[in-house]
Formats: sequence, C-alpha cells, structure tokens
Amino acid sequence: MELTHCRVVVLISGSGSNLQALIDASIASNYKVIGVISNNPEAYGLQRAEREAIPAYVVNHRAFPNREEFDEALRQEIDAIDPDLVVLAGFMRILGSAFVQHFSAGILNIHPSLLPKYPGVNTHQRALDAGDEEHGVSVHFVTEDLDGGPVVAQERVPVLPGDDAETLAARVLEKEHLVYPKVVSWFASGRLRMQEGQALLDGEPLPASGLDIQAP
Ligand code: GRF
Repeated sequence: MELTHCRVVVLISGSGSNLQALIDASIASNYKVIGVISNNPEAYGLQRAEREAIPAYVVNHRAFPNREEFDEALRQEIDAIDPDLVVLAGFMRILGSAFVQHFSAGILNIHPSLLPKYPGVNTHQRALDAGDEEHGVSVHFVTEDLDGGPVVAQERVPVLPGDDAETLAARVLEKEHLVYPKVVSWFASGRLRMQEGQALLDGEPLPASGLDIQAP
C-alpha cells in the first residue's frame, strides 16, 4: 500500500539550511516537501529547492502595497499547492491573523531561543548580553502572537566562554537541523496536533516549554 506522505510546504527567506535538513530527513521519514515559497527572490534556499527538483515559488512582499495583500497572495499560492502542513523555516515575515486562522492548526515555526525567552530577532546576542549559561531552539505552532504559539519541542545548547553571536548561532543551528525534522514527522504521523491553543502529543498536553529533546 502506497504510504501516504504528509504534504509539507516550506516557507523561507534566506539560506534555507533548515529546509535542506527537512528535505534530507524526509527521505527516510513520513512527510514530503512538495513546495518551497520564498518572500525573498534572492534566497539561497530557492537554489536548494531547484537542486532537489522541488517546485519553488517567490511571493515577493515588496510587490504588495500592504501586509494583508501579501498574506492573501501567499495564502493563495499555498492553497494551490494544497499541503497538509505549512512549515516556516527561516521565514522572516510576520503573518497576520487571517492567514494564521486559514491554516488553523497546521503551521509550525522554528525559533532560535528557549521560548518564552527572546521572542523576535537577535536572540543569540541577547542571550550573551544576559549572561545566560544556556541557550537553544524552540519549535512551536504558529498562532497570532509573534513567536508565541504553543511550544512543541526545545533543544538546549551551552553558552561557552568566548562565544560570540556567530559561534552560538552555529551551535544552535546544528540542533535546529535535528529537532525540526523530528517534530514534522510527529505531525505527519498524526501524533502531534494543536487543539484550542494547546499542543498535544499522543493526545497528551505538552508542557509550556514543549518536550526537551537531547538528540544523540
Ligand atoms: C535560523 O537560525 C532559524 O532559527 C531562523 O532563521 C535562521 C536561518 O535559518 N528562523 P535557515 O538557515 O534559513 O533555515
């Protein structure tokens, strides 16, 4: 029986290293990246999609007079592809409530901090400035609150003496590439859902900081 793979669309804005990790892991997993959409026509991630023969599209936010029209064009592009799951991976646009509600409980995002710490940008420098001894990554469902949806999983990294934002970001990025494919496969298998703003894994509510994953 043909295994029906979960159809995943990945939204990017830049390098697409998380996109690459998701593609690489999909070979041995239960989901398939069936489309890539970038708001940035220069995103290197578009080249990654083309190399993998995955349909790639640009919906350039600069081509729209306002956020609502951009969100609507993005929604139409995604609906035309008809995914089961929308995955934001280095996607740097804030999506409005109409978009989020349209895809309801089917949008995931990866954020380079241990949410609720450091929503927004420059998370690594902020962790260093705060003198944090550890930092990390969160995968969460997307709701109308920026970086505020229920957390599904987190992975921690130590902040080491001599770290700067670049060395810390690189350490976090390595973990991102491990945790994201794992979480997408949980959704693809039906184990992971969001109901009434709560993330559930195997029907059990996840803690506010999600599952703490320490991948081997
Ligand atoms: C990553 O740190 C990710 O957490 C953030 O964007 C950065 C670049 O991601 N959202 P990618 O290499 O484009 O996947």
